[in-house]
Amino acid sequence: MVSDKPRIVKVLNVRDESKTVRSLIFEDDICSKARPGQFVMVWIPGVDEIPMSISMTKANGLAGFTVRKVGEASSALFDMEAGSLLGVRGPYGRHFTPIIGDVMIVGAGTGLAPLMPLSEILTQNLSSIHMIIGGKTIDEFVFVDRARAILSKTKSEIIITTEDGSYGTKGLATDAMEPILKEGHIDKIYTCGPELMIKKVLEIAQVFSVPIQASLERIMKCGIGICGSCCIGRYRVCKDGPVFDSPKLEEIIGELGLFKRDHSGRATII
Ligand SMILES: Cc1cc2nc3c(=O)[nH]c(=O)nc-3n(C[C@H](O)[C@H](O)[C@H](O)COP(=O)(O)OP(=O)(O)OC[C@H]3O[C@@H](n4cnc5c(N)ncnc54)[C@H](O)[C@@H]3O)c2cc1C
Ligand code: FES
Repeated sequence: MVSDKPRIVKVLNVRDESKTVRSLIFEDDICSKARPGQFVMVWIPGVDEIPMSISMTKANGLAGFTVRKVGEASSALFDMEAGSLLGVRGPYGRHFTPIIGDVMIVGAGTGLAPLMPLSEILTQNLSSIHMIIGGKTIDEFVFVDRARAILSKTKSEIIITTEDGSYGTKGLATDAMEPILKEGHIDKIYTCGPELMIKKVLEIAQVFSVPIQASLERIMKCGIGICGSCCIGRYRVCKDGPVFDSPKLEEIIGELGLFKRDHSGRATII
């Protein structure tokens, strides 16, 4: 379901996920029916409008997104309290396609936001999930308890990795992929997080001939395929993504983790 009509919604609840990450819950029937991986354009009055992955949907019309405080717009969102008003339009974009089978999920940071509703559907499908959550250090982790609760419904596992060894296994999230893939039973890989991680996930998946779906981020202005600010290769992340399948990712692998467009549209080295 898509709705381009902007709606004003009230923040009903703000949940601290970590020192720099918060989830904002609001009521919007259209957003509550979003598919996993879709995003919403969030208008912060007087500040900016930025895309946010929908991190929570409920049958009772509630929806939520999860913001990490990094720049002006995300900090303004982070500082909102219950009762604040904001604008939403969408949900937009291509979503993850949940399968029934044995899947691997690789995520990091707020990249886990769209992977949470995906995991809920996968476990409803009785799929087994091998979820690898990576981070630089222990303070960065969000959604671990929520992931454990979701995955407890099927025969699944969570593997935590940190670059400094402060939580879980020392190393990169992608280091944990190979031992599982070598067993030969993974049907599909889903991933979202830093682009260099996504690139590595794609390269490893290619070696084992496992299809992947990855959700990408680019600066977005219109969110509906008009302005071109979100282009990667010949694709617009807002319209052709944000979730891309292996063939399209293989086409744009040369840009992944290397180039981004800045707010003026100039391609810059990441
Ligand atoms: C489809 C899609 C879904 C998204 N979903 C989410 C989401 O669920 N949660 C979320 O927090 N953000 C999400 N984003 C990113 C979000 O839209 C903003 O780009 C981000 O919040 C920064 O906006 P800003 O205006 O505050 O900072 P900017 O002014 O754009 O950036 C300020 C500084 O922070 C850096 N920066 C920008 N983004 C990040 C980042 N993610 N991590 C570290 N540094 C960064 C910039 O390079 C710059 O130096 C999503 C983006 C897309 C395209
Ligand atoms: S944000 Fe305008 S084309 Fe994608």
